[in-house]
Amino acid sequence: MNILNKLSPQFREFLQEEGIDEEIFLFEQTLRYIRIKPDYQITFEQLQQQVSNQILPIYEIPTLYSLPADEKISNLQLYKDGNLYGIDKSSAAVVYSLDINKNDTNLLEICCAPGAKLTFIADLLRLQTKEDGIQRKVFGVDISQNRLNITQSIVNKYKLEKFVELILEDGTKYKSEILFDKVLIDAECTHEGSIKHLKKYINKPIQEKNTKKQQKNNKASKKQLQKNYTNTYTTEQTKANEWTEEDFNSRFLDQKKLQQIYDLQFSLLENGYRLLKQNGMLIYSTCSFSQKQNEDQIIKFLELNNDAILVNPFYSMNQQQCKSGKIFNTIRFDPKVSNTGGMFIAKIKKL
Ligand SMILES: C[S@@+](CC[C@H](N)C(=O)[O-])C[C@H]1O[C@@H](n2cnc3c(N)ncnc32)[C@H](O)[C@@H]1O
Repeated sequence: MNILNKLSPQFREFLQEEGIDEEIFLFEQTLRYIRIKPDYQITFEQLQQQVSNQILPIYEIPTLYSLPADEKISNLQLYKDGNLYGIDKSSAAVVYSLDINKNDTNLLEICCAPGAKLTFIADLLRLQTKEDGIQRKVFGVDISQNRLNITQSIVNKYKLEKFVELILEDGTKYKSEILFDKVLIDAECTHEGSIKHLKKYINKPIQEKNTKKQQKNNKASKKQLQKNYTNTYTTEQTKANEWTEEDFNSRFLDQKKLQQIYDLQFSLLENGYRLLKQNGMLIYSTCSFSQKQNEDQIIKFLELNNDAILVNPFYSMNQQQCKSGKIFNTIRFDPKVSNTGGMFIAKIKKL
């Protein structure tokens, strides 16, 4: 189905202003991805038997595999036992860009919930600790209590409690007594990359788009919003993947809210950088395709911070899968060529 014709003129205007290629909305992701706990002993043949005979390894990221998009994982014993996770390839690449190694003891992820990347980081830290006995930790900051509760239950399920500390806090204000070896800012964004949600919304008949129940939920989530969120526009309802007209318009069509998200992203970046050690590495990622939310933020940041340089985030992924961003040394997973949900990644070194 060509959803381009169904996008409202205002939404297409938003795409144009943000420099977003409309064609990404024509792309239908045919693969999904899973990862196996890094030290779980299983052969590829056993994975074929236990998961799917269509499973394929992603060579650039060890322990990551692709499956046909419609394969369910929640009934798999490996998943129930906490040895298999669902994660998009582009998200796994964000973690891989951190290049976690034995010298990393304290890491920070700002905007960590629900924890797909955080648990991957924790697994890699756990692996290092298993080798040398040195205790390591990833600190995960998020502003949403509900989302942190979900993160905590995932951390518990995968037995990563010793390697994760969750902090309910506004990431633009979070202070710490220690500085971190690596910082990941997986910034809140407009999520127009969440094409599935967008399609769900666009495909809904108009009368279904704002049912009474949803309106009631909107009121409830607004209260929640005032309670939990100081500077972000998203609602708890959206987080349950229930897109409403209100969510859609406030994400994309309200200039004031858009400006809030740009400001939020920049403040998150500034605070994350402040918390980074000298010679440390910071990753800034979003799942938006917007230039204003990605490259423009990085350009502005580099202009204001003389000790920050951009370094290549993830050189082993070939160019067919991820393209260069609009500035050198940044990368974009374009859904059209990478068969992923899409991601922007920039890696900054503090000199
Ligand atoms: C893209 S999601 C993060 C996904 C997560 N990193 C993962 O891999 O599962 C963005 C997150 O940013 C959080 N957020 C929004 N504004 C924030 C703020 N000011 N400080 C901290 N977290 C914030 C949201 O609650 C949401 O969980």
